[in-house]
Parts: sequence; structure tokens; C-alpha cells
Amino acid sequence: MKINFQETTKDLAVRIDIHSKFGARDIDVWMLDLIKLQPGSVILDVGCGSGKQCFSYYDFLKGHAAITGGDVSEDLLAQARAENQRRNTNITFEYLDFNKSFPHKQEEFDFVSCCFAIYYAENMSATIGEMYRVTKPGGRLFTTGPMPQNKKLFYDIITEATGLTIPPMPGSSRFSTEIFSTIKAMYSKVDLHIFENPLTFDTVDPYMDYTRASMSEDRKLWGSLFKEKDDFEKIMKQITEVAKKRLDQDGKLVMTKVVGGILATK
Ligand SMILES: C[S@@+](CC[C@H](N)C(=O)[O-])C[C@H]1O[C@@H](n2cnc3c(N)ncnc32)[C@H](O)[C@@H]1O
Repeated sequence: MKINFQETTKDLAVRIDIHSKFGARDIDVWMLDLIKLQPGSVILDVGCGSGKQCFSYYDFLKGHAAITGGDVSEDLLAQARAENQRRNTNITFEYLDFNKSFPHKQEEFDFVSCCFAIYYAENMSATIGEMYRVTKPGGRLFTTGPMPQNKKLFYDIITEATGLTIPPMPGSSRFSTEIFSTIKAMYSKVDLHIFENPLTFDTVDPYMDYTRASMSEDRKLWGSLFKEKDDFEKIMKQITEVAKKRLDQDGKLVMTKVVGGILATK
């Protein structure tokens, strides 16, 4: 499956910022509690983006770990490396395309993670197979992605505003089904954990910032909505009107993120 997707530094940063300002819960706390990292671990974070999870692991283990983050986006890697320098941490950030063989030895890592990225893989068995290959026996994989109920309000508002059918999103349409079953077929112990985080907006502007950051650069995923060049701004205007109407009705907009975390042991 070829998925046309390229995350941009700005859109990812906007969404991370909105989650932290408007969310009731912190996903990093949930994740760290679940994965129980051990000091001295050798860790690979695949699709690391600007390094959010790598820095969270580093802080949790107070630097007692060898952490590598890999991504295809040179922009996001540059941002991660700048933050690595600013914090004076010694995480390795490297180019890694998870659609190709990983440049790592067999059984190199105690822990491999892939947060909000795995569903962009073109050949799921091959990508997960590479994650399995580089994990030590008894080592673990942790991967996160959206569940089908994720961001219901977001999709309801777009449907009401446009009258169009939402195209299937690679995340929510693949994570709890194809991805879970591929991991289950390969690893010995596999559990799916759920994290729910309501984001509450009292005004429309930050909600629309989130909407833009979700729909702008990855426009190709929304191909059936944006057919003409100026459709994007037209649709943003329609979405703003519906969001305003719902805010006036309910006094707030509550968009709940429903995230799955698959934890597997090799
Ligand atoms: C939504 S971002 C998540 C980034 C980070 N894990 C986080 O949670 O902040 C998805 C990431 O997947 C990366 N990605 C997409 N295709 C990839 C590929 N073929 N190989 C490696 N990374 C990829 C993107 O560049 C982006 O950094």
C-alpha cells in the first residue's frame, strides 16, 4: 500500500502544543507507566519525528540508556538534533525509512517503539518484521495509533460542514485491525491498552488551529475533499461556521483522543 504522507515540522509542533494546552491528560505519563523502561536499555524509536518520545525516555531513565531515534524527515531530524544539543542529551538521531531494511544488526535493541507513525508503512509485515529482527529475544515493541472512535467531534464537524464522506484515515482504519493482528502473529505476548484524552476548547481559534494542522499538509489523505485549488480555505470556512454553532450550543467543544498502545514481547 502506497501512502502519500509527509509530516511537516510546523503541523506536528502545533498539534503537540494543542494536546499539552487543551488535553486533560498527558500521554507521555500514560506511556511511561505502561512500558516500565529499565535503566541501561538499548532503545530504538522509529518515526521519532522531532524526538518527543526519545526525550521522554531519556528524562525518565535520567540518561541511563542508549537511545536512537530514526525518521525519514530531515526537517524533523534537524529539529530533534537541535533539541538534543540544547538539552545536552546524547540521543542519536538518524535517517531511517521504515519501508526499507533497517540499518541495524539483528537483536540489537531491548525496546523498540513507533508512536503515531507505523500506519504509514507500505508493507506492514515487512516493517514489523524489521522491528522484530532488531529486537533482542525477550525484548519489547511498543506502538501507538488512533482507535476507530478517535476524535469523533472532529470528523462529525467536517461531515456536517461539507456533507461529504470522510476518506479512510490510515491510522484509525489500520491500527487496531491490520497492525494489531500482524504484531500478534509475530510476537509471543501482545496486549492492547487504551488511552482517552478529552481536549476541551472554550473558543474556536485553537480548535481551528488543530483542524488546519491535521488537514493542511497531509491534504493528499483528504484528496476527495480538496479537489480544486481553493477548496481548502473554502472548507476551513465551512468548518469554522459549524464549530462556532456547536460552541454556542454547548458552551465548549470537546474532542476526545482515543489512542491504542500495543505492547508486545519477542
Ligand atoms: C505524526 S508523526 C509522529 C512523530 C513522533 N513519533 C511523535 O509522536 O511526535 C509521524 C512520523 O512518521 C514519520 N514517517 C512517515 N513515514 C516514514 C517512513 N517511511 N520511515 C520513517 N518515518 C516515517 C514522519 O516523518 C513523522 O515524523
